[in-house]
Amino acid sequence: MPSYVVTGVSKGLGWEFLNQLSSDPKNTVVGIVRNKPPTDARVASELRGRSNIKILEADLTNYDQLKRAASETAEITGGSLDYLFANAAYVTSFDTYDGIGVLGQKPQELSEEFRQLMETNVLANIHLYNLFMPLILKGDAKKVVVITSGLADIDWTNEYDLETTALYATSKAAMNMITAKFNAQYKKDGVLFLSVCPGLVEVGHFQDPSPKERETFRKMLVKFSKYAPNFKRPDTPEVAIKAVLWVVHSSSIKDGDGGRFLSHFKNKQWL
Ligand SMILES: NC(=O)c1ccc[n+]([C@@H]2O[C@H](COP(=O)([O-])OP(=O)(O)OC[C@H]3O[C@@H](n4cnc5c(N)ncnc54)[C@H](OP(=O)(O)O)[C@@H]3O)[C@@H](O)[C@H]2O)c1
Repeated sequence: MPSYVVTGVSKGLGWEFLNQLSSDPKNTVVGIVRNKPPTDARVASELRGRSNIKILEADLTNYDQLKRAASETAEITGGSLDYLFANAAYVTSFDTYDGIGVLGQKPQELSEEFRQLMETNVLANIHLYNLFMPLILKGDAKKVVVITSGLADIDWTNEYDLETTALYATSKAAMNMITAKFNAQYKKDGVLFLSVCPGLVEVGHFQDPSPKERETFRKMLVKFSKYAPNFKRPDTPEVAIKAVLWVVHSSSIKDGDGGRFLSHFKNKQWL
């Protein structure tokens, strides 16, 4: 009876994790959201009859709520956990279309955005990992995964002059390092930590861009096509999550995967 916890299952990739994982009735899937009623209603209408889904409420940035979610999970699973997916993230549009120098012209907004990114995407996930470690250590699979972004790859950034998303990418790079540090500590206990990028996935972000934003996005897509000539368009959540689950299920400490930062192709090819 494998057990899974996934944060941020209200929409986007988190919802697709919930859908795919709960399609196997042998899995117990705990989804964490910050506003439970709409997700309960969506499960009742779109995933009707899946009694292996449990939705818990916690804002990732609220330590006490996360702590409660960990103890509620223990009650559901009998005290252990096989897989933890740190999927939830603050995804901002503040830095999507401008380089860091332009963002610097709005210093207060830059500071606020950066604090929120680091608080949600890094600090909250440190607490999440620590709070769920006692359960993971008692689980069979012992796998902890953060959903990261290839935009955190320094070599890719330098080779293709990827100047936008500076703050978001930094939060993801920081969390990759935290994940590696957890690996360094817990590999000896058999816990596999991974940072996995799902590719570029269409989840409805950044709709209705202005003409200037559209032009920036077009230029980025040109760089993406140079980097990956086979890249045509963002993947669907269905394709992306299948790939991420394949990466997670086929990775192991024995094969040297502990702490690695991987794409949905299980390498450093991000698109
Ligand atoms: N889509 C892509 O192309 C792509 C590419 C690379 C990496 N990723 C990563 O994939 C993950 C999922 O992103 P997505 O594309 O599915 O974006 P999304 O649709 O915006 O989903 C983000 C999820 O995180 C939740 N969340 C945000 N802040 C939270 C908080 N403080 N407490 C609890 N939950 C919180 C949101 O909940 P609410 O509904 O309450 O806001 C939502 O469920 C993220 O880590 C993202 O960085 C996505």
